[in-house]
Amino acid sequence: GKYRVVSTKSMPGTRWIRLLTDNDCRLEVCTEQKTILSVDDILALIGDRCDGVIGQLTEDWGDVLFSALKRAGGTAFSNMAVGYNNVDVVAANRNGIAVGNTPGVLTETTAELAASLTLSAARRIVEADQFMRAGLYDGWLPHLFVGNLLKGQTVGVIGAGRIGSAYARMMIEGFKMNLIYYDLYQATRLEKFVTAYGQFLKANGEEPVTWERAATMEDVLREADVISLHPVLDKTTYHLINPERLAIMKKDAVLVNASRGPVIDEVALVEHLKANPMFRVGLDVFEDEPYMKPGLADMKNAVVVPHIASASKWTREGMATLTALNVLGKIKGYPVWGNPNQVEPFLDENSTPPR
Ligand code: GLV
Ligand code: GLV
Repeated sequence: GKYRVVSTKSMPGTRWIRLLTDNDCRLEVCTEQKTILSVDDILALIGDRCDGVIGQLTEDWGDVLFSALKRAGGTAFSNMAVGYNNVDVVAANRNGIAVGNTPGVLTETTAELAASLTLSAARRIVEADQFMRAGLYDGWLPHLFVGNLLKGQTVGVIGAGRIGSAYARMMIEGFKMNLIYYDLYQATRLEKFVTAYGQFLKANGEEPVTWERAATMEDVLREADVISLHPVLDKTTYHLINPERLAIMKKDAVLVNASRGPVIDEVALVEHLKANPMFRVGLDVFEDEPYMKPGLADMKNAVVVPHIASASKWTREGMATLTALNVLGKIKGYPVWGNPNQVEPFLDENSTPPR
């Protein structure tokens, strides 16, 4: 291999490995057993000679690592994730390193997990499962695990990009929910879908579904019965869900987060769950992963899973393949390898990220 490429983790599938090794790369996969690598662990992996690195969202990719990668002759880094809040893209580019991410292949898988969390929270699936396994079921009762019906209610989507729009479609098509969304960009295709589906339902004598693009996020929080968060994490979305915004939500709303943990003030959320037993959440991500804020694990009105939204075999193999293409695209040149998923730095801290 002419080029040395390092992957900080073993990843699913073999296609990404073959892509690299069939194309002049010597691949080194880290065998360290601990889950989260430190900056020092990664410095040791980079060593004196490294052309590209495939890294993970649990790692802190800033100037220390990118300047080391530059000194080692490197030009390429790919995150195995669509989100890249763990990467300082400006520092990377300053060191001549291109940054890639893995959009597209995880859209539907992530949306399906958000839908699963919605249903689990609305119908109290995990609570009921625990009740059953604990041997507490002693006969059908009219009030046993009564939850929320989704049909005809309003789904609120904060951030109607690829994943938010796919989630909205699932909830609208599957459960005939009305849509209210908040995004800086107009979700034209999603609006057209809801309009067409509404016409279809009406033609069949059913209640049509409707959509509304909210002027403010608060409108969504006030009006929606289910709220799912799909923004990117940056300074503008940190603690987007804070005590004031929790307070305006319906007392029996369902809140879902499969984006990034710090979008929610998790301490405030625990307090809100304690004060409002009918309020339910489905969480895939946490402010301080892998930890949960004190008290969250005791809340029966919370469904919690360990950041598995993109965890389908097809998607994870696709993400791994994209990381290899991203690195090869840079090392071998774009004309040969097509346009990899290269992330641009935000123009300034006030501009909105591209997508
Ligand atoms: C996973 O969290 C991702 O951003 O792909
Ligand atoms: C419930 O099981 C019913 O039959 O209504």
